Amino acid sequence: MQVHKNVKSLKENISALKEKNLTIGFVPTMGALHEGHLSLIKCAKEKSDFVVVSIFVNPTQFNNSEDLENYPITLHEDIKLLEDEQCDILFCPEISEIYPKGNITKKYPLNGLDKTLEGEKRPGHFDGVCTVVHHLFDIVTPDKALFGEKDFQQLAIIKHLVKKLALEIDIVSCPTVRDSDGLAKSSRNKLLSASEREKASLIYESMKKAKCLFPEKEILDIKRMVKNEIDRCKEMTLDYVEIVNPENLKPLEKINALEKAHILIAAYLGNVRLIDNMPLND
Ligand code: PAJ
Repeated sequence: MQVHKNVKSLKENISALKEKNLTIGFVPTMGALHEGHLSLIKCAKEKSDFVVVSIFVNPTQFNNSEDLENYPITLHEDIKLLEDEQCDILFCPEISEIYPKGNITKKYPLNGLDKTLEGEKRPGHFDGVCTVVHHLFDIVTPDKALFGEKDFQQLAIIKHLVKKLALEIDIVSCPTVRDSDGLAKSSRNKLLSASEREKASLIYESMKKAKCLFPEKEILDIKRMVKNEIDRCKEMTLDYVEIVNPENLKPLEKINALEKAHILIAAYLGNVRLIDNMPLND
């Protein structure tokens, strides 16, 4: 596996691939790799000739400096995992390589998709995500880029961004990979204490219960049930639960069995903020 830390050497190698007409599948990550990331890489390998993975803990998408400082960094282990997956190129730049003029974010027209849910709770987060992903797309020039449904709003925003900017990149979405108790794999799970980890599957359990109540119960009743379930666990604090139209992320007020509905949850376990989501009618 080639490992590049600077843009120039990466671009030279990518140009050589392009000259040979090889297709590039790109998986952007912030490292601390787990099976969720690896599922994206496996899918990228199936769908393209060459796989590029980036590991970059993007400072501009953290609206909380403590969250950024605590973000797990496991580059040695990550490299081993990437080699096992036969990843072709790893790009792991320093901050100055990506933001030579300081941590400046751009504003993108996102049609309000960035104003709800995570965007409302983490102002500026999606400006940071879009800035870095757009920049990485410019550098890597992939044919396909793979994103996880685990970050459902991020996926919706990236699809919108690519359309708006008319980029010729196929955005491929991959299903959420979970632990055996249902907890979605996440780099942040490494920060949970043993007792917090035991409680963490409650998020998945409550989404499954919500799915059972759909479409017979009203939206408000389903959200109240989730809140009660999570409130009963003293280690966990609900940040939000919302049921939305998965296309435009607008909250649904009334159940309509014919309309698609998607539940999204964010909750704190101690200091660790976890997010998850699930379709209610599939
Ligand atoms: P990160 O959290 O490292 O996630 C990288 C990719 O892995 C994202 O597309 C995410 O949705 C996917 N992923 C994470 N957990 C997953 C799981 N359990 N199952 C399936 N896919 C999963 O998302 C980011 O980094 C950053 O915001 C980034 C896009 C790299 C921009 O900085």
